[in-house]
Amino acid sequence: MEKVVERIRIATLSELPRNLGKTVSVGPYEIALFHLGNGEIRAIENRCPHKGGVLAEGIISGEHVFCPMHDWKINVSDGNVQAPDTGCVKTFEVEVDRDEVFIILNP
Ligand code: FES
Repeated sequence: MEKVVERIRIATLSELPRNLGKTVSVGPYEIALFHLGNGEIRAIENRCPHKGGVLAEGIISGEHVFCPMHDWKINVSDGNVQAPDTGCVKTFEVEVDRDEVFIILNP
């Protein structure tokens, strides 16, 4: 059966200051959206796998976000928690078309 891919507009680039996170809700997901210092956009599940910290409120450094609750370091590209901690968060595909930012959902 063919998969239905959803492309959902979630923000404009001008709404996303660099190195700050933003919380967006898309269907059943709460997503942390990040505009990195290098200009790339990343989207991950907005819930830390440790105790549920809101990752969009974390500090961004390069390709990582530090959870605001207990400082776990999570890669915003692959979703992996960095050692010595372990775990991962779901990542979402992002597309940027001129000033518009889309999330791609593959059910
Ligand atoms: S809830 Fe994120 S590090 Fe504890």
